[in-house]
Amino acid sequence: MKIGLLTSGGDCPGLNAVIRAAVLHGIKTYGHEFVGFRHGWRGVLEGNIMDLPRTRVKGLAGEGGTILGTSRTNPYDGPGGGPERIAVMLERHHIDAIVAIGGEGTLAGAARLAEAGLPVVGVPKTIDNDLAATDYTFGFDTAVAIATDAMDRLRTTGESHHRCMVAEVMGRHVGWIALHSGMSAGAHAVLIPEQSVSMDQVCTWVSEVHERGRSPLVVVAEGFIPEGHDEVLAAHGAEQNGRPRLGGVGEYITEQIEAATGIETRNTTLGHIQRGGAPTGFDRVLATRFGLAAVDLVSDKGWGQMVAIRGTDMIRVPFAEALDGLKTVPQYRWDEAKVLFGR
Ligand code: F6P
Repeated sequence: MKIGLLTSGGDCPGLNAVIRAAVLHGIKTYGHEFVGFRHGWRGVLEGNIMDLPRTRVKGLAGEGGTILGTSRTNPYDGPGGGPERIAVMLERHHIDAIVAIGGEGTLAGAARLAEAGLPVVGVPKTIDNDLAATDYTFGFDTAVAIATDAMDRLRTTGESHHRCMVAEVMGRHVGWIALHSGMSAGAHAVLIPEQSVSMDQVCTWVSEVHERGRSPLVVVAEGFIPEGHDEVLAAHGAEQNGRPRLGGVGEYITEQIEAATGIETRNTTLGHIQRGGAPTGFDRVLATRFGLAAVDLVSDKGWGQMVAIRGTDMIRVPFAEALDGLKTVPQYRWDEAKVLFGR
């Protein structure tokens, strides 16, 4: 078989490890041939293709980014998009299957194409870890490690200056990165989109810690909105193109904390640093296992499905299941973290 790989949506440490594992396993075990579509679905629509021989994927397991490039182009974009166009491109380049490596948007496009009869399978990807049907996505562990390291550093400078330190991390819709990095760095408050918390409560936690002579550390996910502050936060410029603006909520709550408590407070927005650089060992292993499993799925002609991890097992799930809502932080996980907030 000739298999086309693509990476789409925001990049994520571990994408190259998926590509490497898929190519090596596919060639070695099945005798498949591989190409990559450049810049996600755009490469499929435009026929922008590169060969992926063994030599091209050598040493890629630990490399950040994606050698294929990525974009947020949807396969249905523009007058030229859609299954007919893609079927023509596959035929023209003698490609038998597409492995789409991406998040919710990518997989939704892949699901529609598979429903239209195209040979498409998926590999889940997002640092936010918010995809239903898989316990983990690669990139998440790396983002948590980077955010933890950043907060460890913020703590020492915060302690030196007796300041409150705020770290804004990624998480448009869910607070997994904030929860895990906050727990691991010992944050005194973790603010996530799933939980409504008032600024009064945040300031109480901060003041309690400050009164003990410590430097309060607050981690906030970019999609968090303090209770009752929707309009004022929007007016503060916390949104851009209908999405949370990186830095928006971090800056906002920093100002609010300082004004209400009188404690000198600083915000650090981690932004895209969380997505860059080498994946952790955990993410390399997960991405490698996804790459291997995706090639097995293609070889079994399991169109319309994606690979996933449940516990420690690699499984296959229909796209529909994967797209059945976001995996949000459950109440009990927030309650566990909350035990250590404030005093
Ligand atoms: O991949 C999801 C995500 O990491 C979000 O947490 C964040 O809002 C977004 O990507 C940033 O995307 P972009 O790189 O397009 O600004």
